[in-house]
Amino acid sequence: MVTPTPDFVGYPETPAIVAATGTDRWVTVTWADGLSARFHHVWLRDNCACAECLLPLTKEQTFELDPAASPSLDGQPIVEATGALVVTWAGDRHRSAYHQGWLRAHRYDGAAVGARAPVTWDGSTPDMPPTFDGTAVLRDDDALREWLVALRDVGFTRLRDVPPRPGGVGEVAARIGPIRETNFGLLWDVRSEPEPVTNANTDLALPPHVDLCTREYQPGLQFLHCIRNTATGGRGRYVDGFRVAAILARDEPEHYAVLTTQPMARANRSRDSDYRWSVPPIVLDARGAVAEIRWGNWLRAPLAVEFDQVERVYAAAACMTAVAARDDLAVHVDWQAGDLLAFDNRRILHGRDTFDSAGGQRFLRGCYGEREELHSRLRILDRRIASGR
Ligand SMILES: [Fe+2]
Repeated sequence: MVTPTPDFVGYPETPAIVAATGTDRWVTVTWADGLSARFHHVWLRDNCACAECLLPLTKEQTFELDPAASPSLDGQPIVEATGALVVTWAGDRHRSAYHQGWLRAHRYDGAAVGARAPVTWDGSTPDMPPTFDGTAVLRDDDALREWLVALRDVGFTRLRDVPPRPGGVGEVAARIGPIRETNFGLLWDVRSEPEPVTNANTDLALPPHVDLCTREYQPGLQFLHCIRNTATGGRGRYVDGFRVAAILARDEPEHYAVLTTQPMARANRSRDSDYRWSVPPIVLDARGAVAEIRWGNWLRAPLAVEFDQVERVYAAAACMTAVAARDDLAVHVDWQAGDLLAFDNRRILHGRDTFDSAGGQRFLRGCYGEREELHSRLRILDRRIASGR
């Protein structure tokens, strides 16, 4: 019988588990290639994948956690002929089986813990941005996957030859998942307008920024599709915000401490809506790694920090502005009709040069998505590839 797992992913049967030994708190598992890892009793009990502990159809738990879980006295962990681990628990003598591939993929002992550190880039990184065929991405899942891996890891990608029709950008974004609608609409236009509601809809230069840092939840992905470009100027400028943060952490530790702890207020003060949010411009995760950049200098709202912090915050913000503007960090992009740039809007800063709106037309159409949709889509694509479908 196939050992159940608590998800719908297919895991490899090899290498099998070849040995399991117990202490009073954990089990040490060794696979056929020599890798070994410890798993606490409480963790193993919590991850029992049997039909009594989690519903097979939903893969959601019915078992409540048990911090006191321990194997029955005569129940040393055993390795089954299939290569799976089996533990019998004290009390109800419940029997839990752990698939060897699942257990290996979820080991947490030592170096296996932690998110992958992103590889950052700058203006000297070759072949930026990674570029893919837009028509292939629209129809082929292998091409889609290749693009999405780059979007996840590099955070900045280009598709060529996306048909320059009004709905093109939405069709591409929908290959990943739902589009994030905002007060700017489902799809929105970037072009010079006589009565703009945002500086983006002028022909002014825009300094490096992320979009909607004024929101409690800033969109994770941004897509910009060039429908037409006959204007002079308007070259795009892209900077890896995670590299900016790394430079600040290394060279400006005092400013970095301020930028990661002191909230900076941002506001979209438009005629029909009024969004405000206040958060440090460099957001760290629970491990202290940079999770998100929130930077949009023309959306500054009045600072509301403690009196003693005001000058420190302004000094740190000026330092970050200067680093974000460094030419050696920027990748420049000239827009052609059919080009679509997709990037991590919580990591990548984008900007543009001024352009001549009287001499030609620069018309981009864009939309937003979410990082979590990208990760979900990639997992599903991986699952299909693993199962040969
Ligand atoms: Fe923008």
